[in-house]
Amino acid sequence: MSTQAELKRAVAKAAIRFVPDGKIIGVGTGSTADLFIDELAAVKDRILGAVTSSERSGQRLAAHGIRLFDLNDVEDLPVYIDGADEIDGSFAMIKGGGAALTREKIVAAVARQFVCIADESKRVDVLGRFPLPVEVIPMARRYVARRLAELGGQPKWREGVVTDNGNVILDVHGLRITDPVGLETAIDGIVGVVTNGLFARRGADVLLLGTTDGVIESRRP
Ligand code: 5RP
Repeated sequence: MSTQAELKRAVAKAAIRFVPDGKIIGVGTGSTADLFIDELAAVKDRILGAVTSSERSGQRLAAHGIRLFDLNDVEDLPVYIDGADEIDGSFAMIKGGGAALTREKIVAAVARQFVCIADESKRVDVLGRFPLPVEVIPMARRYVARRLAELGGQPKWREGVVTDNGNVILDVHGLRITDPVGLETAIDGIVGVVTNGLFARRGADVLLLGTTDGVIESRRP
């Protein structure tokens, strides 16, 4: 019986085969991404460096001596490797448990391929048991919360958390997300929302799922 930490480590190791030689790669945020960064350190001499989705991951990459690039200086990003809080059968995801959703979505948008690394607890049939993070401009917090409630969720302010962009997070509980693209679009339409943690319009291309039977690789259906 493998622990969740062992499954995360297994997918972090497996993701190294998606790292192309001589390129800059995108690196995400979270405990699984941390383990991936540690694996990346062993092959750092065969990449040019990384762009990342958080200050936290940037510090970890730098500590390993991996060169950091500003996304604005990068023309081509062949791959972005990151975890998820939930992923469904269409490879739509909820992300943002670590409050890095906005930068994650930006790096994912630039990358040609998104490789999701996750332990099997993250694989769900319907998204929404994990509260959906929404990054909000601070002065709009209560307005956005009222609008999110109209969409059927129960928003809760993640008090004390300020994102790398200086904003706040509302976590929306009680959703059963049967139309991830529609909900992602609807929430983005609320004034004051910076980003929401649904990654459906740009979902994962590849899933490396850590299971007790080993790492299972699958492609977006
Ligand atoms: C951070 C994220 C992470 O990818 C997500 O929270 C998964 O984290 P972990 O690998 O620690 O389970 O979206 O904003």
